[in-house]
Amino acid sequence: MGAFGRRAPWPATEGSAPWQEAVPRSPQLPPKTWGSTLESTVLVGHRCLVRPRVDAMSNHVEVTMSLRSPSRGKLITLLLAAALTAALPAAAQQQRVLRLISDRTDQGTLRPILDAFEQASGAKVEGVFMDQGLVNRLESRPTEADVVITKDAELMEIAAERGLLARLESPRIKAAVPAQFVGTNDMFYVDAYRARVIFYSRERVKPSELSTYADLASPKWKGRICIRSGSHDYNLALFGQFIASYGEDEARRVIGGIAANLARKPQGNDREQARGIHEGKCDVALMNTYYHPLMQGNPAQKAWADSVGVFFPDQAGKGTFIMRSAVGVTKAKGNRDLALQLAEFMVSREAQELMVNRTRQYSVLPDVPVHPQMVSLGAEQGLTDGRFKMDFVPLAALAGKREVAIRLVDSVGFDSGF
Ligand SMILES: [Fe+2]
Repeated sequence: MGAFGRRAPWPATEGSAPWQEAVPRSPQLPPKTWGSTLESTVLVGHRCLVRPRVDAMSNHVEVTMSLRSPSRGKLITLLLAAALTAALPAAAQQQRVLRLISDRTDQGTLRPILDAFEQASGAKVEGVFMDQGLVNRLESRPTEADVVITKDAELMEIAAERGLLARLESPRIKAAVPAQFVGTNDMFYVDAYRARVIFYSRERVKPSELSTYADLASPKWKGRICIRSGSHDYNLALFGQFIASYGEDEARRVIGGIAANLARKPQGNDREQARGIHEGKCDVALMNTYYHPLMQGNPAQKAWADSVGVFFPDQAGKGTFIMRSAVGVTKAKGNRDLALQLAEFMVSREAQELMVNRTRQYSVLPDVPVHPQMVSLGAEQGLTDGRFKMDFVPLAALAGKREVAIRLVDSVGFDSGF
């Protein structure tokens, strides 16, 4: 775990907590990382140095001073009193700290956006990274943070259900974000999304052989599929959408069929599956869209990207499933105006373009173009401009589906049956 900031960047690891980590109500809390102390210097005349120290958590302002001419103490005391009266509110205002909690693990993903917000608002954004147990942390320390940013909007839905979020009362957000990306009762909104699709071997698979998620359960793929753990957050989010869209019986059949067609025991992160295809261990894999351009930009992984194509399933049917990231505001009241400002900023064109450029996700703003590296994805199957048909499952419809997905993954022996 690392605090936000340039000196302590987030780990560049991929992935997030298994769902099970987020559900229990008996959290294991990692060490606390809040509470930076800010300091500024105010010169009073040319004789006295005043350093207000502002504790970021309590907004308590403590002033220390050193006098260089004690013989003129009375005059200086008067000057000081006047200077403090004028200077403290300004100093305190300049040094407002917005507290953020997030499970984003991609190094540097948010920092450029937060930097831009700091510049625009004059505030400082500090916070904590939670790889696991984001909802539990919110539940045990509901006012610790002002803003929550998560790469998994379903966690936000749970947080809202547990009464941990405040309503986003912002006409600006309402005007900017399409209604389908606004969470239940305006408690949060989706700020970006990606698709979970089929990556296939350019050498051994023709796009015309691919069609739907359900087709991956057919015998023709026996021993040819690579995938990460079925209980990883990404797959649970996908399988939860199978259940919501297809019904539990069909979802069980498809999940069980994919498990029966695996080329190897589920392992590694998403990129490892592309590597598996590149090394000939399997022919198809389920992965998130942004990994294709991200691997292309990594010299060690470029060959993996070059050997795979990206196929958007179900384009002739209900559509491809997406994974959503989201922004919400906690019930902490001290910085509510600033929290709302950041929530509004996250959906500004500037922040959305930064998000698209940093993460290769898709913006929720219709007029923010798909990243140039994403435009050609799906071209082999006739898609243009990187746009695709999505099977949009409302987050509210996913309530309780992950628990069912976990049960299905266990019952078909997804991770252990190979
Ligand atoms: Fe990822």
